[in-house]
Amino acid sequence: MKVLVFGNPEESAEYISQEILAAVRHKPNLVLGLATGSTPIAVYVRLIHAHQTQGVDFSGCITFNLDEYLDLPEGHERSYRYFMNQHFFSGVNVRPSNRHFPPSQGKDLARQCLDYENKIQEVGGIDMQVLGIGSNGHIGFNEPTSSLASRTRIKTLAEKTLRDNSRFYRPGEVQPQMASTAGIGTILEAGKILLQAFGLKKADAVHAAVEGPVSAFWPGSALQLHPQVTLCLDADSASKLSLRDYYKRVRENDERRLKE
Ligand code: F6R
Repeated sequence: MKVLVFGNPEESAEYISQEILAAVRHKPNLVLGLATGSTPIAVYVRLIHAHQTQGVDFSGCITFNLDEYLDLPEGHERSYRYFMNQHFFSGVNVRPSNRHFPPSQGKDLARQCLDYENKIQEVGGIDMQVLGIGSNGHIGFNEPTSSLASRTRIKTLAEKTLRDNSRFYRPGEVQPQMASTAGIGTILEAGKILLQAFGLKKADAVHAAVEGPVSAFWPGSALQLHPQVTLCLDADSASKLSLRDYYKRVRENDERRLKE
């Protein structure tokens, strides 16, 4: 795992967006795995800016989102489709037919989950996966005890996740309890994984992911099994890592070298 400790989340967003932009320029039909939540928003802002001011072309890109809530009506403002339209798709030229979400409605959800996996395979797999991590260590909505080999499927959200995400809901508003999510096995097949985590609330999950044993109790730890993972942290999310000062120095040295 490559662990980078940044001075603040904005620096991390800059780093990740540059990685994505370089990949899109190199491979115009890049297959991108995308996350929602508050963490990647600053990355999406930068990608939109690059599209609008430098003409970076996303028209060949194919996207697969990690997760979606079940049974929200089409266009619901809490759905992850809505979130992605609002924060990313409305500002770039990813073709609507190239945007994919795991199933959230309809009859045979298990069959639709399988179709989602097949669609990823048909386009040659995900080249680059953008990830966040829950305070309980979930990646996607793979809550603790999810199988490390899991594929796209329906999950019930953990109590902690519901509490963490209640900040997005008005008092009295019904919060969805179930979602479809790409599996840990699905995520681990991406060519490259870029995970961001910020704030003290993520420190335990980051510690478990980087320095803990590989365990279904902390799904983020499964990333240790992947050869190309970059973790972009701030001082708070890195605060429980025994090597935090080393990681910080390595990144500062890299930066200095780049400037010379
Ligand atoms: C969202 C997702 C989740 C979030 C995680 C962190 O698509 O897959 O795993 O990445 O819950 O959420 P934030 O960024 O809001 O802290």
